[in-house]
Amino acid sequence: MTTKLWDGRFAEKTDELVEKFTSSIDTDKNLYSYDIQGSIAHCKMLAKQSIITNDEANRIIKGLSEIKEEIKSGVFKYEDKLEDIHMHIEARLIEKIGETAKKLHTARSRNDQVALDVRMYLKEKTLSIINELIRLQKALIRFAKEHKSIIMPGYTHMQRAQPVLFAHHIMAYYEMFERDIQRFEDSLKRTDVMPLGAAALAGTTYPIDRDYIAKLLNFSQISSNSIDTVSDRDFIIEFLSCASICMIHLSRISEEFILWSGAEFNFIELPDAFTTGSSIMPQKKNPDICELTRGKTGSVFGALICMLTIMKGLPLAYNRDMQEDKKPLFDAVRAIGLCVKIYADMLPKIKTNKNAMKKAASVGFLNATDFADYLASKGMPFRDAHNCAGKAVAYALKNKKELHELTLKELQGFSLLIKKDIFEALELENMIERRVSSGSTSYKNVSYAIEKAEKKYL
Ligand code: ARG
Repeated sequence: MTTKLWDGRFAEKTDELVEKFTSSIDTDKNLYSYDIQGSIAHCKMLAKQSIITNDEANRIIKGLSEIKEEIKSGVFKYEDKLEDIHMHIEARLIEKIGETAKKLHTARSRNDQVALDVRMYLKEKTLSIINELIRLQKALIRFAKEHKSIIMPGYTHMQRAQPVLFAHHIMAYYEMFERDIQRFEDSLKRTDVMPLGAAALAGTTYPIDRDYIAKLLNFSQISSNSIDTVSDRDFIIEFLSCASICMIHLSRISEEFILWSGAEFNFIELPDAFTTGSSIMPQKKNPDICELTRGKTGSVFGALICMLTIMKGLPLAYNRDMQEDKKPLFDAVRAIGLCVKIYADMLPKIKTNKNAMKKAASVGFLNATDFADYLASKGMPFRDAHNCAGKAVAYALKNKKELHELTLKELQGFSLLIKKDIFEALELENMIERRVSSGSTSYKNVSYAIEKAEKKYL
């Protein structure tokens, strides 16, 4: 496996450092199964179009299938000289079956070949990420349903704001992952485009059948412009954008779980199997899964920025810069895949602390809005009601009490519209129950949201 497949016009041997520098085999060997599958389809098409004979095609296909087993079992030898996975497989095929192997690359270039491999790879990975996201959504639905009666403080500016159902908060993440799934599905449409036939950039003189290859490889359409085909990495950038947004969501839930599992909040307990200890502090139970997910978000963003930067300013068509696309893509695919999977596994095992959440929701004037709404319902304009409630809060703060701990007499000092029924209005359960606008936190609304989400997966 030493002669190069392109050295016809070269008088000098390639410098050893150049071979190392240009080699991408360490990374793109991950594409071997797609490369072989793509070559087999290409070969079948060449035979169907009588560009090669059936006998030649059969020998090539047999050789390729054997090479696949060699790679799978680990006996296949890689060397930097052969640059990339495409050259490795072709060189080995020549070694195995001789001259016929050299016909495989008819009407093809590595430029359209690599585009095909990455598209096949990414189609598969996107689908598997979507499936894991669905598993995560199902876990969220179950989690919300199991903890439907828990009331927690809802926050704005990280300050206690208004009481909400814990399930409502959890279902917010369901919505975020729903949008992620839709985004991945949409990006998939543009990844699912078959590039082979563009050859180096201008297309080919051979009477190829591109639709036939697309059919064999399960692509729903073929690309339209050969120059665009070999220059285009939008589908990778798009995937990484979707992945980055999804990682934001995972990072935000991670941050909340980290806070909630600490002693200051004590809202949840993370499962032992999904936490780690400290080598020095025996009492520690660290939320590493959440922290690492938050951390890996940085690597996924990095992959996106990396791809955007690689592509920016590249003239058409293929440029070797584009070889640098694979590492960030593979790293990001691995990171997001692991994060989504581990969250789907961990979520059902998280325990909740209903009392701590209820207590937190009962302290800190989370009923001040309801106090104002009460006054407004009795005829006071909301702006005035807001002002009046503010004064009541200031008074209560000074007297180290909550609004609902003031006496009726004290309350009536702020407005004579206040009657005994104010205490009902300020009760936690009632505050939840009265939030009836669609999409809000009432028990009925949240149950409806859970049922709707469940129905989707029946
Ligand atoms: N290893 C290359 C890549 O990953 C394959 C295409 C190379 N084409 C070329 N003409 N050098 O982009």
